[in-house]
Amino acid sequence: MPTPDPPALEDELGDVLEKAARHAQLSLEALAAAGGVDSGRLKDALDYRSDLTVAELGRLATVLRLNEVGLAALAQNRYPLPALAGLPFPLYPLRMPFGVGVANAYLIGTGGDAAVLFDTGASHAELHRAWPANIQRLEAVFITHYEAEHIGGLEVVLRESELRRFHGPPSGRWPQVRGLGEGQSVEVGGLRVTAFHTPGHAAEHNCYLVRSLAAPAGTPLLVSGDLIFAGSLGGGYFCCQRQLTHSRRILGLLDDATVIAPGHGPLTTAANERRFNPFLAE
Ligand SMILES: [Fe+2]
Repeated sequence: MPTPDPPALEDELGDVLEKAARHAQLSLEALAAAGGVDSGRLKDALDYRSDLTVAELGRLATVLRLNEVGLAALAQNRYPLPALAGLPFPLYPLRMPFGVGVANAYLIGTGGDAAVLFDTGASHAELHRAWPANIQRLEAVFITHYEAEHIGGLEVVLRESELRRFHGPPSGRWPQVRGLGEGQSVEVGGLRVTAFHTPGHAAEHNCYLVRSLAAPAGTPLLVSGDLIFAGSLGGGYFCCQRQLTHSRRILGLLDDATVIAPGHGPLTTAANERRFNPFLAE
């Protein structure tokens, strides 16, 4: 993998508490009262200045139905990231600054100088900066969702690669899309890419499970877009409940070793998120 150092998590404790409070439809005051935490101290935690005690975190986890171990790890800036099993294809995470954060796109090498691209990043200039020199040719482009930091380079990529079309969630706004719905697969460059329809963060959102056709028993990869992050979930801007339902559903489909490649933050695995993700841990 070309980026050995894992990047920072997308979400800190404050983000997770805020998202979970929204899922539970609790105001800050209601959450503070239910968790027996002073509302000023809770507000500090939401503003990234947490000094909540283990006992307070435990009570908040109970009220918000979050995994206490994962929440405590986030609070200590020690959320665990797993060792990754080798994938049967080269994966290139392309990390691009966007606003105050970082957005990820991914290339999977398909032999020689060819690759398949998942999302097109914050802008074409940023995509170009992150692009590995050995990849010169695209066989296909897949889009997880139509948000600025994930489709910034899309028009230019389609034009320069002469692909003209891409695979993505069906959308009337994009005449170039070959719409992929739940369970539909595409075979390209020795890969089988299976789409899962996961509305929640956005109404039009897909995740993609990628397997090698030559090594079908090899470790699979889930390109999760803004559904599942290491240690968190994408914001449920379209529908919080569906975001939660689909993230649990998709995690339930994955083998332990499956590598998860999110739209923001570091790579993780299904086993790691089943164990520690505050929203998803069993
Ligand atoms: Fe995003």
